[in-house]
Amino acid sequence: MTSNNDNIIDIKKESEHPESERLCMTRRNFLLMGAGTIVLSTMPGIVAAVKLIAKDYPRQEIISLKDLKKDQPIDFLYPPNNPSSSFFIVKLDEEAGGGVGPNNDIVSFSNLCSHMGGPLNGTYKASHKAIGPCPLHLTTFDLTRHGMVISGHATESLPQARLEISEGHIYAVGVTGLIYGQHDNLA
Ligand code: FES
Repeated sequence: MTSNNDNIIDIKKESEHPESERLCMTRRNFLLMGAGTIVLSTMPGIVAAVKLIAKDYPRQEIISLKDLKKDQPIDFLYPPNNPSSSFFIVKLDEEAGGGVGPNNDIVSFSNLCSHMGGPLNGTYKASHKAIGPCPLHLTTFDLTRHGMVISGHATESLPQARLEISEGHIYAVGVTGLIYGQHDNLA
């Protein structure tokens, strides 16, 4: 069963959006949508946007705040219903989109490249706060900007886990973006 909030794809006709809404996209929304926004022109007079949205999952503890060291990524399995899906968490020591912690610098992303699922494990670049290049086609992602593509073949941002901190422990509570190989992050 899925609710409206669970839907990954939201398609609306251009005429359903007021002009001010279409012109005033915030920077955060732009980055979250990344290349997930596709202009479809197959039907005359219709422009549709395909928008990636977040999905909530049961809260899963990842690591304690004190045990996460600067620029040392830690891998973990996520979401809970997908034991083969690898994510990493890293303290960038630099404020980042979606970051948590005292300095908003702790972020978490999928280890599967959004292009064709290449393994990104071990490719973190502390000097650039980026992950990559992907070993398959060399895409690199910016971890300070919601996993936006810096260069390479991928066109979609890296899926980002949403984090919370409670009593000194860091939890994953959801994912923004499609995990490679899944159509709705439910598999
Ligand atoms: S699979 Fe990563 S760039 Fe192609």
